[in-house]
Amino acid sequence: MTTPSAEEARAKLLVNLTPELRRDLRIRAAERGMNMQDAAASALSLWYSSPAPPEVDTRGARSWGVFLPAGGPERFTAECESRSLTKVQGMAQAITSWLASHPSPSDRLVTQPVKRILVGNQKGGVGKTFVASGLAQAMAEAGLRVLLVDYDPQGHLTSRMQIPGLPEGSDSLLTHMLGEADKHLARSLVALPHERFGGRLHVLPASKDAFLMDAKLALLQVGRDTCLARALAPVEGDYDVIILDGPPNLGLAIDLAINYVQRRPGELIDHSGILMPVWSDRSSFDAYKMLNEQIETHSKMTGAVVDQVGFVVNAYDSRKGVVTRAFYEGWNELTTPGVLATLKDAIEGREASDYQVPLLEHAPDSPQANVMRGLAKELSA
Ligand SMILES: Nc1ncnc2c1ncn2[C@@H]1O[C@H](COP(=O)(O)OP(=O)(O)OP(=O)(O)O)[C@@H](O)[C@H]1O
Ligand SMILES: [Mg+2]
Repeated sequence: MTTPSAEEARAKLLVNLTPELRRDLRIRAAERGMNMQDAAASALSLWYSSPAPPEVDTRGARSWGVFLPAGGPERFTAECESRSLTKVQGMAQAITSWLASHPSPSDRLVTQPVKRILVGNQKGGVGKTFVASGLAQAMAEAGLRVLLVDYDPQGHLTSRMQIPGLPEGSDSLLTHMLGEADKHLARSLVALPHERFGGRLHVLPASKDAFLMDAKLALLQVGRDTCLARALAPVEGDYDVIILDGPPNLGLAIDLAINYVQRRPGELIDHSGILMPVWSDRSSFDAYKMLNEQIETHSKMTGAVVDQVGFVVNAYDSRKGVVTRAFYEGWNELTTPGVLATLKDAIEGREASDYQVPLLEHAPDSPQANVMRGLAKELSA
């Protein structure tokens, strides 16, 4: 988290910014070893010395908070006024010019490993399965080849897609992780039949033995950390994206998933990582602290670099009162990682689960489906 403390004598500027610019700024800053606040301050200095940069498209801009050196917000506001620009336009111009003059050191890389996203939060019922599934659907609809892994022994994802779980005694993800499988992993996958996914959305269903995952893996003497990576390796080449729907706990299985989504050599920042559905309430903040600690401990102990790609604030309803709105602002203020999407609690989401139909098939034109498409776009950028 990079919310600076009060002692650093910084002042907060609230301004709207498009998700694309926010994301590009975050990635480019990290690539250049800077934090996002310093990158924003650098962008503004550059902008103050450029008389009339071209106008930038700011459609879709959303609230964004940034801490600037003391006096920064006032100077920025005054400069926008003197140029007769809105603050949204001023900031968009500043960041766009900064990105153009600070190219990515990784631009030379053309190929990237398969994108691996763990949708994780140990808090139960926050919408992990809903988000993992909706995101996978939207990515497949947009043309990507997606593997959605039901990594939760409860098997909610599997049942909500109306897919039978893997039969007992057959190969499962766990048997592949233990090196005990007989057949190729591809034999366990199921393609969703809906036309809109074009045969590109495959699911690795849950199996009952997943309940034993932590116990069985604890006995594995050699290669435990990488056993999920080894299990999925044979199919990685067939996909653009692999999404794991995480279980509601912080056990060994989650550690392995965190390990799996770590940044690989040559992989761009935020290409893979952990996406965290959260609610606008205190217990979600407490849960995030624990998850963040687990990720940091994992990184410290193994040397893995693990990107937290962002939050999805779920079931948000501003009418629930001041406290809910305050916690929502709290998530927004955590600029690293940022809020990538906000979902309301809506009937179509419930119905899709209850009727066991994918959301984009059940309610393709609904606001929730469009939020999933926006999220897919942002994560595929
Ligand atoms: N934004 C939403 N609108 C409507 N229904 C939702 C929304 N988000 C989640 N739900 C529903 O709420 C229930 C709980 O969500 P979900 O199963 O995705 O949570 P989870 O974090 O995966 O839970 P678990 O911790 O048990 O795995 C599901 O029936 C789901 O369809
Ligand atoms: Mg779930």
